Amino acid sequence: MCGIVGYVGTAKSVEVLLGGLRRLEYRGYDSAGIAVLDGDGSIHTRKHAGKLAVLLNDLDQHPIANGSTGIGHTRWATHGGPTDVNAHPHLGDDGKLALIHNGIIENFSELKEELLAEGYTFESETDTEVAAKLLGREYGRAHDLELAFRTVVARLEGAFTLLAVHRDEPDVVVGARRNSPLVIGLGDGENFLGSDVAAFVEFTRRAVAIGQDQIVAIRADSVTVTDFAGAPVTTEEFDIAWDASASEKGGWSSFMAKEITEGPDAVANTLRGRIVDGEVVLPDLDRIGDEALRGITRIVIVACGTAAYSGILGKYAIEAWSRVPVEVELAHEFRYRDPVLDDSTLVISISQSGETMDTRMAVQYASEHGARVLSICNTQGATIPRESEAVIYTHAGPEVAVASTKAFLAQVAALYLFGLHLSRVRGSLDAAEIEANAAELQAVPEKLGKVLESSESIAQLAGWMADTRAVLFLGRNVGYPVALEGALKLKELAYIHAEGFAAGELKHGPIALIEPGQPVFVIVPSPIGQPELHKKVISNIKEIEARGARVLAVAEEGDAFVPPLADFVIPIPLAGPFFEPLLAVAPLQIFAMELASAKGLDVDQPRNLAKSVTVE
Ligand code: M6R
Repeated sequence: MCGIVGYVGTAKSVEVLLGGLRRLEYRGYDSAGIAVLDGDGSIHTRKHAGKLAVLLNDLDQHPIANGSTGIGHTRWATHGGPTDVNAHPHLGDDGKLALIHNGIIENFSELKEELLAEGYTFESETDTEVAAKLLGREYGRAHDLELAFRTVVARLEGAFTLLAVHRDEPDVVVGARRNSPLVIGLGDGENFLGSDVAAFVEFTRRAVAIGQDQIVAIRADSVTVTDFAGAPVTTEEFDIAWDASASEKGGWSSFMAKEITEGPDAVANTLRGRIVDGEVVLPDLDRIGDEALRGITRIVIVACGTAAYSGILGKYAIEAWSRVPVEVELAHEFRYRDPVLDDSTLVISISQSGETMDTRMAVQYASEHGARVLSICNTQGATIPRESEAVIYTHAGPEVAVASTKAFLAQVAALYLFGLHLSRVRGSLDAAEIEANAAELQAVPEKLGKVLESSESIAQLAGWMADTRAVLFLGRNVGYPVALEGALKLKELAYIHAEGFAAGELKHGPIALIEPGQPVFVIVPSPIGQPELHKKVISNIKEIEARGARVLAVAEEGDAFVPPLADFVIPIPLAGPFFEPLLAVAPLQIFAMELASAKGLDVDQPRNLAKSVTVE
């Protein structure tokens, strides 16, 4: 989704803005542009459809004046296709003002009618240009950018982060936020705005999150935040834990390749300081409190995509350990079906970005309907944790590739920590059981490191399968979400039809898809940890093998039943049932990435996808 950067200071803003946009590229976009004020009171804009490289190239060939106030934008098209004209910034009618926008202005047609009737003309098909013209009109009346903003935001419906600069106020960038992300970066003699902290982490580690329905004005030496009515609001500063180099590709061929190898660290960092002498320590939950946790009768996990699959793993473990019933629901389905909620329901949202609009709306709905809300999130200063009662941060570090990899592992680790904590509070596990599970969890990073050593053979397999048109994934119990995740990865990266099935469901329909040569990944449970399920999955393998399927198995090292039946075996180290999925998922991530690479596709930014889906 759109990325936004604003800067006021003493540096050359073109460089700062382009650096910020590069760091926000991961959000997904199809055009990019900047507007810069120079010292003579002129506004210079440049924008292009396509990747940032197109804009950079143009700016190289035809540089623009480089003042120290400016705004930059990467656009993910909603209203109007990805063209130069529709790219942001958009100008006010007199060309003195430039505006960028993330979100959707739902009442833009009626506002456009109003402006057309007043003689305004429009170049683009965007809702953003309507806001730019409206702001230009209001500036003409108020002669003050902040005042004009207040009038404009009162007229807008929908989701928006807006940033604008005006020729007559060259030392300020003004922004407004409703339902779309915006964070302030506090510098020394310079200040920043960004869709998230990645936009400015290169320059400062001090940040302030902006609340819902607030207006911010940054100058080189000051930052003011007010509500939409102009009343000052209190803000809280936080330190950015990510360091700038963490979101650099380094020598890796892709961010995804780098992030897969960071999986063990993502888990280790999420556990760090949270398991002490075999006990789980989660002060993060203090705001909910043990008494409330003892009163919980039901848990509902809400999330989207990969985060929802981590939720399914969480469900299996939390329910088994704490004996509290757990449901997992896609966040976008949750609030539209009038779910039963009260204060004995704990809703757990999971989101890497903390900005996924569907998940955010589910959190809001749950709070409004009296449920307790805990979030698991990877991004400081994001909206979802701010709007939740308590948050467990995963410490996976910045995830730049659109496909979620290390964040998934960290989410599962956080859910397991929560499950063990809840079990202690409710007395459903004794200290020895908690300690044993905590030890298993702590052993995951090292075991995962071993799994990553088989990357080369998985890459080879993917290379052989570059022409494959469809792949099926089967798993049972905790292997089921792994199958779903393997299929999602392959779809989004390699554009191959892929389906994940619960292996037990096979004979209820999906087996009809099996024909000679059909590749099927099977996640095989441990013969030691889950002997009953192991037998059942071996039977499933026999059923598909008999019908000519090519069986690609992810199985425990030393499982002698699998090699005679499988065409390819990916071994994973021995681990308890809940911990095996954390090991089994990595080969599937690698497979999808390598197959996409073999097809010559962009693994970091697959077509049509955005990293953070900030509109519903
Ligand atoms: O930022 P979130 O964790 O809320 O994102 C949720 C999904 O959009 C995300 O996991 C998506 O499914 C990924 N592209 C999967 O790789």
